[in-house]
Amino acid sequence: MTVRSTNITTTEHRVAKEARWRANGHRGGVLWFTGLSASGKTTLAFELEQRLFKKGYQVYVLDGDNIRYGLSADLGFSPTDRGENIRRIGEVAALFADAGYIVIPAFISPYRRDRELARQAGGEAFHEIHLTASLEVCEGRDPKGLYKKARRGDIPEFTGISAPYESPGHPELAINTGILSVEESLAILLEYVDHAFAVPAEAISDRAALAP
Ligand SMILES: Nc1ncnc2c1ncn2[C@@H]1O[C@H](COP(=O)(O)OP(=O)(O)OP(=O)(O)O)[C@@H](O)[C@H]1O
Ligand SMILES: [Mg+2]
Repeated sequence: MTVRSTNITTTEHRVAKEARWRANGHRGGVLWFTGLSASGKTTLAFELEQRLFKKGYQVYVLDGDNIRYGLSADLGFSPTDRGENIRRIGEVAALFADAGYIVIPAFISPYRRDRELARQAGGEAFHEIHLTASLEVCEGRDPKGLYKKARRGDIPEFTGISAPYESPGHPELAINTGILSVEESLAILLEYVDHAFAVPAEAISDRAALAP
């Protein structure tokens, strides 16, 4: 997005990214959950947050519904508003990652272009996690009764019914939450986090340790 302000100057942090990683015992980064409504984003994100926190991780969930009460309270579900919602989340997630957190944004985020922009904001620390439960499975679950409402025409632009979901082409991880249980899905996620967010050897070397 074009920066509108002029006369602005950025300032470098004096705490190195690697210093934050060493203090936390893991890298910072973004675990971006995408998938249909009822695919399990909220269920897995909050369970994963709790388990990782107990293991000593700095971790925080940004959940679709919660964010729409605050940061994105002014936005609806048109493609433009969805784009702006995801742009904001992408930027906030990148800040959390930079601060050393593992941040778990859990949003339907149906448009590929919006997710790509979030990926660009997050940089190398961005991991796209696709929860691949099918429309049939998700509609069968319908824990919030949203599919029923959408089928009746009471919810316009509902993903999967009257608005598209563009599947990720190359997600870092895909979990079939339509077949696997919550526990099985969590086991995959916990193992993934252990590897993907380990502090790289060069960041714990003596040379890096001298950095502020
Ligand atoms: N492997 C699984 N992972 C996650 N949830 C599962 C799994 N298997 C079954 N479920 C069930 O599927 C439902 C998923 O609902 P959840 O609210 O987490 O979806 P969501 O993706 O956050 O939807 P929304 O986009 O509407 O917020 C829950 O009732 C959960 O118990
Ligand atoms: Mg949810």
